[in-house]
Amino acid sequence: MHVIESVRQMQQWADGQRAAARRIGFVPTMGYLHRGHLSLIELARSRTDCVVVSIFVNPLQFGANEDFDRYPRDLDGDRRKLESAGVDVLFLPRTEELYPPGFQTAVEVERVTRGLCGASRPTHFRGVTTVVAKLFLAVKPHVAVFGAKDFQQLVTVRQMVRDLNFDIEILSGPIVREADGLAMSSRNAYLSPAERVAARAIFQALSEARAAFASGERNADRLRELVVSRLSSVPLARIDYVELVDAETLEPVRRIARPGVLAVAAFLGSTRLIDNCLLDPAEETGSATEGVADEDSQQLPTEGSV
Ligand code: PAF
Repeated sequence: MHVIESVRQMQQWADGQRAAARRIGFVPTMGYLHRGHLSLIELARSRTDCVVVSIFVNPLQFGANEDFDRYPRDLDGDRRKLESAGVDVLFLPRTEELYPPGFQTAVEVERVTRGLCGASRPTHFRGVTTVVAKLFLAVKPHVAVFGAKDFQQLVTVRQMVRDLNFDIEILSGPIVREADGLAMSSRNAYLSPAERVAARAIFQALSEARAAFASGERNADRLRELVVSRLSSVPLARIDYVELVDAETLEPVRRIARPGVLAVAAFLGSTRLIDNCLLDPAEETGSATEGVADEDSQQLPTEGSV
């Protein structure tokens, strides 16, 4: 595995692959890799000739009082995982190169970033799209893969790619879960043992709503209420939002007539976790979509023995 730290060298490597007609797959990450990331890498490998993974904890997407300083980091462990996953290049850009003194350009996607996580993290998506655009320009991928857990991020990146005419195919990988249903996230490392147990309630709440949907419930308020009441019964959990939105526009819906996403953000102690499930009336049972989801079938649950 090559380790590349400069944007220029990354671009030269990408130019070489492109000149040899090799398709480049890209998985951007902030490191502290888990099985969720590895499944995205696997998806990228299955669709391309070589895979680049970036690790960069992007200061621009963290708010002033958020967890940038304590975000978990384990570069040696990550390297080993990437080697075993057969990754071709680990791209480790330096903050000084991505954001040099005097840096003053940003990429901002408007409507789809306003609600959900954007409401409580107003500068977050601007930071995400700015860094993802810069990473795309460095890595020059044909295909880039994002996880469906960060559903709003996925929709936002797709919108940016359309709006800015990036010639990149965006794929999404389904949510990967722990055995008890908790969606894998680097931030799970922050949870105390008691919070870790309480965190199961997020998936349980979504599963209850999905079961109601499968039995024919289409009223968004009633589905939301199932999640809210389940989470409210857990003393260690504090809801940030529970929303049912259109899967494309992310606008709130009242009745599910098209694919919708039931999305949750909740604090367990000081740790903010997100999760979601797709509710698609075209699927007879309304049940989870397993395996690879792509642009046409956007996601998701479940994996693990839940
Ligand atoms: O999902 C993430 O890990 C980050 O938001 C990303 C896409 C790597 C941008 O920093």
